[in-house]
Amino acid sequence: MITFILNNQLVKTSAASGIALLDFIRKEKQLKGSKLVCKEGECGACSILVGELTEDGVFYQSMTSCITPLVNAQGKHIVTIEGLNMETLSPVQKAMVDAYGTQCGFCTPGFVVSLSGYLLANETVSTAGIIGAIDGNICRCTGYKSIERAAENIIAQVQQDLSKISIDRLVAEKYIPTYFKNIPERLLAIQPIETTTNGTVKLGGGTDLYVQRPVAMYETEAMPIYDRSAMKGIEIKDGFCTFGAAETMGSLYRSELFKKALPDSDYIFKLLSSTQIRNMATIGGNLVNASPIGDFTILLLALDSTLILEKDGNRRSLALKEFYKGYKQIDLNGGEVLEKIRFKLPSNLTKFHFEKVSQRKYFDIASVNFASKFELKDGLIQDIHLAVGGVGPIPTYLHKTSAFLTGKILTEVLIKAAISTLYTEIAPISDARGSADYKRLLARQLFIAQFLAIEQADLVFEKIIISV
Ligand SMILES: Cc1cc2nc3c(=O)[nH]c(=O)nc-3n(C[C@H](O)[C@H](O)[C@H](O)COP(=O)(O)OP(=O)(O)OC[C@H]3O[C@@H](n4cnc5c(N)ncnc54)[C@H](O)[C@@H]3O)c2cc1C
Ligand code: FES
Ligand code: FES
Repeated sequence: MITFILNNQLVKTSAASGIALLDFIRKEKQLKGSKLVCKEGECGACSILVGELTEDGVFYQSMTSCITPLVNAQGKHIVTIEGLNMETLSPVQKAMVDAYGTQCGFCTPGFVVSLSGYLLANETVSTAGIIGAIDGNICRCTGYKSIERAAENIIAQVQQDLSKISIDRLVAEKYIPTYFKNIPERLLAIQPIETTTNGTVKLGGGTDLYVQRPVAMYETEAMPIYDRSAMKGIEIKDGFCTFGAAETMGSLYRSELFKKALPDSDYIFKLLSSTQIRNMATIGGNLVNASPIGDFTILLLALDSTLILEKDGNRRSLALKEFYKGYKQIDLNGGEVLEKIRFKLPSNLTKFHFEKVSQRKYFDIASVNFASKFELKDGLIQDIHLAVGGVGPIPTYLHKTSAFLTGKILTEVLIKAAISTLYTEIAPISDARGSADYKRLLARQLFIAQFLAIEQADLVFEKIIISV
């Protein structure tokens, strides 16, 4: 039995736990406002809000319901566009109408949900922030400018209406319906959110599983781990950052603690999928999925991370660079789960850099991605770790290139010399994301870019001019 609150209604259902939340909402509950378009998390037409009880009240996040497993709704408040409707248009809906932000209207419920979700999730708001919140919503009619104007107008209106954003103030100014005020106590009555089943397919946010094999997932009783408390949390201790594999890209993005551990994270996170997908995508799923172009996988390889794998209370540690054995083959025994990930905190000598090239700059998977971490003292490279994705059957840790550079003075000549070693470690193939030659060239350019980013006055390192 899965129990949750759908808008203002308590739901207790014995529907198959593997069905997509969107199918439950549209077919079982006949709420047709959330639209079904791509069914792959790409367009945002099915966006909903997922509210989770925290110590400070209910925290709402937008997600794409077409690839959200029903079981992940357990103990939460699910809000569709119907749950935001009131007798009159909310200021968000009115702003969309006034700025001509809606034409055919198919994308509009998703946009309104994402825009409203931004107000629910943030105490302080900005135009850049609200526009970021609709980075996973696609519109084929308006050309976006009118939607951006609507978003700007919402921020101006909010700043005029509300001195401080809170559920009470949003209700008072009719941004959301009154029933939102009672949701915390109603959620408390249906805790916990953590569920156990007899399923064997480990299920995080479902963003890979529900795209790769949606039909099979509908019929599968999965082992839900998205809400497993043992796989949550971020800890900075004894020079290391340790975090749970069920933390999502979104939860790490919001964590001030994690930002201290991952230099340049604001820039990096914006290159990873969309707000909705980041809110669902666990780091465990990114690593275990073993995609050769997983962004977090490449980041964590360059951070020389260690995995903590758990089965029946027994744990073993394994270097991430030893985890991948062949295409989609990993060192994970039956029944074992990836529980935690650990990496060394950067020192003031540490240089860390991430680059991603995809067909679109934002909201796309990489053609090639590249990350590096090393220490630089008096121009000398130490403790260097390089990782590249999209150029082989597995996410590639560059053992030989890292060894070649270790202990040497960083110069332009050295980097050029290292390229021939780099070429011995990659074997790209031609596919929809580019030809083998293009990807080899990208790997080379992104390798060079790792060092161009260093701004150090005493470093003798001219900008490399690349000839193709
Ligand atoms: C629209 C869209 C955009 C995307 N954009 C990006 C992008 O920009 N960059 C990127 O890197 N990825 C991207 N992805 C891919 C995906 O979101 C990530 O790989 C994500 O991190 C997967 O996590 P999940 O929790 O959703 O995995 P799930 O689908 O739940 O699981 C994936 C696999 O991991 C296993 N698994 C999950 N957690 C564990 C665990 N703790 N222990 C053992 N096994 C486990 C599952 O059994 C399954 O085999 C995108 C996906 C979509 C749909
Ligand atoms: S239908 Fe496109 S994201 Fe869900
Ligand atoms: S208004 Fe038609 S898709 Fe956005």
